[in-house]
Amino acid sequence: MTALPAIPSHIAIVMDGNGRWAKKRNRPRTMGHQAGLKALRTTIEHCARLGVGTLTVFAFSSENWNRPPSEVSRLMELFLSALDKEVKELHANRICLRFIGDKAAFKSAIRTKMTDAEKLTAANDLLIANIAVNYGGRWDITQAARQVARAAIEGRLSPDDIDESGFADFLALSASPDPDLFIRTGGEMRISNFVLWQSAYSEFWFTPVLWPDFDETTLDEAILAFQSRQRRYGRTGDQVTGAADA
Ligand code: IPE
Ligand code: IPE
Ligand code: MG
Repeated sequence: MTALPAIPSHIAIVMDGNGRWAKKRNRPRTMGHQAGLKALRTTIEHCARLGVGTLTVFAFSSENWNRPPSEVSRLMELFLSALDKEVKELHANRICLRFIGDKAAFKSAIRTKMTDAEKLTAANDLLIANIAVNYGGRWDITQAARQVARAAIEGRLSPDDIDESGFADFLALSASPDPDLFIRTGGEMRISNFVLWQSAYSEFWFTPVLWPDFDETTLDEAILAFQSRQRRYGRTGDQVTGAADA
């Protein structure tokens, strides 16, 4: 019996292109963010259906504070209202929600709702959905280094014992396996400070599709591309397939 092609255990997505989607329709950029929320809902549901264990999405980067204040405040309003409207149904659908990023920067109403949503959905086991907010890969590595340094100074950790896996325990995604598949919509081919440490061996898939247009078909296409890749982790192709040495 041939094994079924593997569904990625963890998918990470840079949800880009909301502004351009709206601009194409002569609508304000925030309309694009609103439409992007719908695409996120569809993506979470489809991942759950396919048996993807973990989905991590980039919703707001540490650098997105540099946008015009009106767009930032509209994004915060949208975030707050999404926390009010979406959490109940996600919980009913057995989705476990986690927020990763420097949450201290958000106003208390948002922080409280994030904590409440995490508590409510903590035991859900169908899909873990990590929402990256005020997140940056460099922030994550820096905050982990700060924790490691503190542990060393307090004598809880010897510098000689710091290794890659021990260091990763301090990162925001310590509870999740590294992403197998990294998707970016919107046509740009860059990481933009997303999961820097964790994407060391992720398979990358870029699409010009703007995030609000991303749907089940686009996700299936990305997974199909993923399934055609050979992941070698530094070994040779023959080693991976088990073929005899040439
Ligand atoms: C991604 O879409 C959403 C956020 C960064 C919050 P953009 O708003 O970056 O959309 P484009 O790239 O300008 O089209
Ligand atoms: C990355 O998109 C961040 C999110 C999708 C939340 P950006 O639109 O901020 O990235 P750049 O500025 O084009 O690199
Ligand atoms: Mg963008």
